Amino acid sequence: MTELIWDGKYKDGKKVGPVRIALPFQTVETVNETAQERQLTLDLLFSGRETEWRNRLIWGDKKYVLPSLLPEFAGKVNLIYIDPPFATGDDFSFSTEIPESDDDFIKRPSIVEQKAYRDTWGRGLESYLQWFYETTILLRELLSEKGSIYVHLDWHVGHYAKTILDEVFGQDNFLNEVVWVRSAPRSNVKRGLPAGHDTIFIYTRSAESVWNRPMSALSDEYTKSHYSNVEPGTGRFYTLDNMISPNPDRPNLKYEWKGVTRVWRVTRENMQRLHDEGRIVYTAQGVARYKRYLDESQGTPFTTVWQDIPPVNSKAIERVGYRTQKPEALLERIIKASSNKGDLVLDCYCGSGTSAAVAEKLGRNWIACDLGRFAIHTTRKRLLSIDNVKPFVVLFPGRIAKLIQRSYLSSSCCLQESQTQKSSLLRKTVECLSRRKVPG
Ligand SMILES: C[S@@+](CC[C@H](N)C(=O)[O-])C[C@H]1O[C@@H](n2cnc3c(N)ncnc32)[C@H](O)[C@@H]1O
Repeated sequence: MTELIWDGKYKDGKKVGPVRIALPFQTVETVNETAQERQLTLDLLFSGRETEWRNRLIWGDKKYVLPSLLPEFAGKVNLIYIDPPFATGDDFSFSTEIPESDDDFIKRPSIVEQKAYRDTWGRGLESYLQWFYETTILLRELLSEKGSIYVHLDWHVGHYAKTILDEVFGQDNFLNEVVWVRSAPRSNVKRGLPAGHDTIFIYTRSAESVWNRPMSALSDEYTKSHYSNVEPGTGRFYTLDNMISPNPDRPNLKYEWKGVTRVWRVTRENMQRLHDEGRIVYTAQGVARYKRYLDESQGTPFTTVWQDIPPVNSKAIERVGYRTQKPEALLERIIKASSNKGDLVLDCYCGSGTSAAVAEKLGRNWIACDLGRFAIHTTRKRLLSIDNVKPFVVLFPGRIAKLIQRSYLSSSCCLQESQTQKSSLLRKTVECLSRRKVPG
């Protein structure tokens, strides 16, 4: 096997794995729950029966959140989408518009975020690769046997990450590399070519993974050029498909049909059935062709190059002012392709909450996590703007919910809050967390 080695991957001849800290989750807030629903949950809880599932928005570093999810969710997550930070301080800052002003407010990284940034990039690429490797190990443990993971990256670290994903998930489980053509490239790049795409690697846990083939609607041009035949009587448009097998080495499919001997795509019985159903048209030479109706077409399958999804632009309705926000259409394609209704979707770098919002709209269950308070608040607000959003809980990993609650609740006025106050609160948080190491 080919293996990528970086400084810090091995210690005393053994691979350095993730720190396994399993902290209990504390509820910071239950959102959108009626008094009756709350009472029902309490009744169920006290009677020892299972309470209804609540989607979870978790405020914390993935380093603590992922191992804390393992006791309950190992092997249970159906789909993981991650859009991890890479290479720039932008990953930990955001801009937002100040009401009644033309200015943008730029939030600088908090202490917790700065610490995470040091974990990630403190020693440059070496530490990033270790950080990424440890994440993928825990994510694999969370993924169900039929699950898939989508890892969204770009030219900064994508090529290194691919080798790590091969190592953790297995080369055989690599499904696709999707190229998302995200923008019109900047034309002011002086050297080299302007970058215009991101890369999304798809891995499955096994060959049994859920796969609902994504299809694109047929273009008008294609419809006109291919579906030009009209069926007399019904007026239905149709095209004629080849029925001869591309593989001549199929002796069981070689037979004579209406005087023509070929290797066909279907068995003799199916050919007879299609003939009886009026689905076969014969050419002047008597060769059978399959009648495919336009109104039955599901479109054409998407390839690995996705050029039809624009980035979130400044005028987009879905825009929430989060610098790295991804378009909902992108997540919709991913979630529909690799999960079914009721499945559990996880994103441990949720940012503005795109994956959670789309999962909610598509009837999937979700767990979303982010380190940043602004990310959590943006996601919460975004979810609440969805019609009939199901109640969800905001959680924090650790036993310091009271402290966290104060800090969390004060962020509704985070633009005015004094920086010193915020810093001391968060410093205490970090101190508490770092004292709570539980060896794995
Ligand atoms: C590229 S953004 C994700 C954007 C998101 N896909 C969206 O559509 O809004 C990466 C996110 O990872 C978060 N992050 C960085 N390090 C983290 C960590 N160690 N644990 C949890 N979240 C982290 C950042 O706060 C940021 O919101």
